[in-house]
Amino acid sequence: MVRETRLHVDGLIYPVFVVPGADVHEEIPSMPGVFHQSIDRLVEDAREVADLGIPAMLLFGLPHAKDWEGSEAWASDGIVQEALRAIKHAAPSLVLIADTCLCEYTSHGHCGIPGPDGQPGFIDNDRSLELIARAAVAQVEAGADVVAPSDMLDGRVRAIRAALDARGLVDTVILSYAAKYASAFYGPFREAADSAPQFGDRRGYQMDPPNGREAVREVSYDLAEGADMVMVKPALPYLDVVHAVKTAYPDVPLAAYNVSGEYAMLKAAAANGWLDERRAVLEALTSIARAGADMTITYYAKDVVRWLSSESHVASDAVASPR
Ligand code: PBG
Repeated sequence: MVRETRLHVDGLIYPVFVVPGADVHEEIPSMPGVFHQSIDRLVEDAREVADLGIPAMLLFGLPHAKDWEGSEAWASDGIVQEALRAIKHAAPSLVLIADTCLCEYTSHGHCGIPGPDGQPGFIDNDRSLELIARAAVAQVEAGADVVAPSDMLDGRVRAIRAALDARGLVDTVILSYAAKYASAFYGPFREAADSAPQFGDRRGYQMDPPNGREAVREVSYDLAEGADMVMVKPALPYLDVVHAVKTAYPDVPLAAYNVSGEYAMLKAAAANGWLDERRAVLEALTSIARAGADMTITYYAKDVVRWLSSESHVASDAVASPR
């Protein structure tokens, strides 16, 4: 009765990885319970996610082929665009969030295009913006309700907003990865998305972990450029940042990304019998909400709904109301 924070299905976002092919459903080794799925299997998953009452899905794609500019990111028949069309049709109630970035699609694995000298870590910021904006437009035209730029290049929110407006796509929500740190906790994701940089690293554009105040400044830029919602990523090692952003912008919807490494740690400990998985996960996710996140992106979303609805018969209707 006196609990200050409650986990609720309405605040969950479920991330998925779509791959080319048919009937593909392969577990990602460092992320037990998370799969590479072809569109046909992903559509079934989307129906299940909707039936569990989870409001939103976040899509990542592994392209048929990678190239220097990441052209499948903006091709109208790119893997994520095809998946968006199929899911929109099969599960129209789901909010479809497209991760907007080039790193899954580029041969070099960077989130933008490296400059002509190929100097490690050097990204041609402004040239990359044009390609990122093009990807956002392709995603929205394919059915994305929300675009989530995760590249951390300067000025991308403004570039995306302008490109969408120019095509009359004025209802799209931009959820910016505003405070995204150059984190070791993305390790399993980079294996899953095959997106590790082939040279250099992401420290030229992602944030330095020791900096907290800078996160509030990054958020202020993205809001000024037209972001509707903002994100802090990763979540658990950055709860102070989540709290600082919520305190600075209490009225802005705030998401936190409980990333692949955070998931893998809990999975590994649970598999060894070292932690009670259910209790540890619910505690971790509750702490993210307590810090100030309105929404949490988590690979555990489906488990959480099942755990919460089995917790109490009385409350189960309020927790999840499958249609
Ligand atoms: C792409 C992107 C990354 C993640 C989400 N979008 C990886 C990265 O920046 O290297 C990580 C998600 C996770 O670890 O679960 N820019």
